[in-house]
Amino acid sequence: MPLLELKNTRKDFGGLRAVDDVSLQVPEGAIIGLIGPNGSGKSTLINLIAGSQELTAGRVIFAGEDISDLAPDAVYNSGIARGYQEPSLYFKMTVLDNVLLPVKGQRGEKPWYAPRWRSWQREEAAQAERAINVLEQVQLLQHYDSLAADLSGGQMKLLEIARALMGQPKLLLLDEPTAGVAPKLAYEIFQQIARLRADYGITFLIVEHRLEILFDFVDYVYVMHLGNLLAQGAPADIVEDTRLREVYFGE
Ligand SMILES: Nc1ncnc2c1ncn2[C@@H]1O[C@H](COP(=O)(O)OP(=O)(O)O)[C@@H](O)[C@H]1O
Ligand SMILES: [Mg+2]
Repeated sequence: MPLLELKNTRKDFGGLRAVDDVSLQVPEGAIIGLIGPNGSGKSTLINLIAGSQELTAGRVIFAGEDISDLAPDAVYNSGIARGYQEPSLYFKMTVLDNVLLPVKGQRGEKPWYAPRWRSWQREEAAQAERAINVLEQVQLLQHYDSLAADLSGGQMKLLEIARALMGQPKLLLLDEPTAGVAPKLAYEIFQQIARLRADYGITFLIVEHRLEILFDFVDYVYVMHLGNLLAQGAPADIVEDTRLREVYFGE
């Protein structure tokens, strides 16, 4: 059984069919690439999985459960976290606070408990310890006290990944994790992704434009074009695919 399965998913925006009858599978523990020219429907597909946009048709099955109709927070609680094409961070907060912010149900946030700091001090210390651990995993710990705004583009992408890890996801959806990132750091981001898979068994579905980097790390690739799945296969097969060359290079 795949960890994630899309069955005939479709998304219409008025008359525009952004995603058209896409079926795909993400096996547990895999790193899967999703590629395609601009406007081919990749980000929309990520939004459909994450629950931030509603399906027009089709089903999304995660760990054997139908999550098609869940709201984004319920999808997150089921074990799917995501990054965004444009880093969506709290830029005027520190790196550490950005990672701590999404932690839900903290006692110290409740008015009754807030003044009774002894009742939540230990819980908060435990969360901070997890946050520090997560920042260490993506090698951002030395920047814990910097403002998010002062990070480089690549570090912002890593901070998004760190924040997603706080939810202990089974599946991480990343939309262009190297967009706007210098080449060396772009490669390092993928090395971190590979390490997170090896160390924690996290499964990845990654939208990426930089194929030369992506193809070094993914097990399997899906290619979208005009909302449809145009091709799929191992990276070596995709490189050889003539339809793909037409779409990307007009050859
Ligand atoms: N919220 C929206 N409303 C209307 N059209 C949209 C919306 N989001 C995306 N689209 C359109 O859907 C198509 C696919 O977009 P998108 O999923 O962002 O593509 P990609 O991520 O592959 O570049 C594009 O034509 C885009 O203009
Ligand atoms: Mg996109």
